[in-house]
Amino acid sequence: MTTATLPGYPSAWVIDTVLTDGGAAHIRPIRPGDANAHRAFFARQSQQSVYFRFFGPRSALTDREVTHFTTVDYHDRMAFVAFLGGEMIAVGRYEHLGHGDEAEVAFAVADEHQGRGLATLLLAYLATYAMTQGITRFSADTLIDNRRMLQVFEGAGFTRVSRSIEYGVVHLAFDIRSAVTEVPRLS
Ligand SMILES: CC(C)(COP(=O)(O)OP(=O)(O)OC[C@H]1O[C@@H](n2cnc3c(N)ncnc32)[C@H](O)[C@@H]1OP(=O)(O)O)[C@@H](O)C(=O)NCCC(=O)NCCS
Repeated sequence: MTTATLPGYPSAWVIDTVLTDGGAAHIRPIRPGDANAHRAFFARQSQQSVYFRFFGPRSALTDREVTHFTTVDYHDRMAFVAFLGGEMIAVGRYEHLGHGDEAEVAFAVADEHQGRGLATLLLAYLATYAMTQGITRFSADTLIDNRRMLQVFEGAGFTRVSRSIEYGVVHLAFDIRSAVTEVPRLS
């Protein structure tokens, strides 16, 4: 199914953008056809990155997980993916928690593309999109030694609503309305 026939696909959110090192990336809402790209992306991740994302070792994603990750409703469940030359290099997602206006977010960036501002950019883009869907709070669980992820959250300009630590996991909640989010577009 092409994006033109994919129900609810927010094609206005497809952009080409510039990263902090001047490189380019193509960012767009995820779609079911990204399953193979998503599987390949996971397979290339280092054990450390997988551990930070899933809080434990994982050798592969199941087909069911891949379907779950790549099939979203663009409202309560949303994900943006970044591509470079046909290869998926990052993903940022939110899941509405089913009550109130809060959604939980998670990110993963290919090891060789970390430090280029992708998570920072995806977080800003995701927050801008989330606000159009009535979501005003983001929450996240992050391992306490995941300094980079914590830096991304702290640097986003959101108002922190809460922060608690349990069993080595930092639980954060932010009001995202306070941040002015603007993503640089190419052309
Ligand atoms: C955490 C993660 C998403 C950050 O993505 P990223 O695209 O590298 O983040 P950014 O480039 O936006 O940078 C985030 C911060 O970490 C720093 N950083 C990122 N990569 C770095 C590297 N390789 N070396 C040193 N610093 C680095 C950046 O300098 C930046 O800090 P700054 O804002 O003070 O400059 C990425 O490292 C990742 O995918 N990790 C594995 C999965 C994971 O941890 N997911 C989080 C679970 S919610």
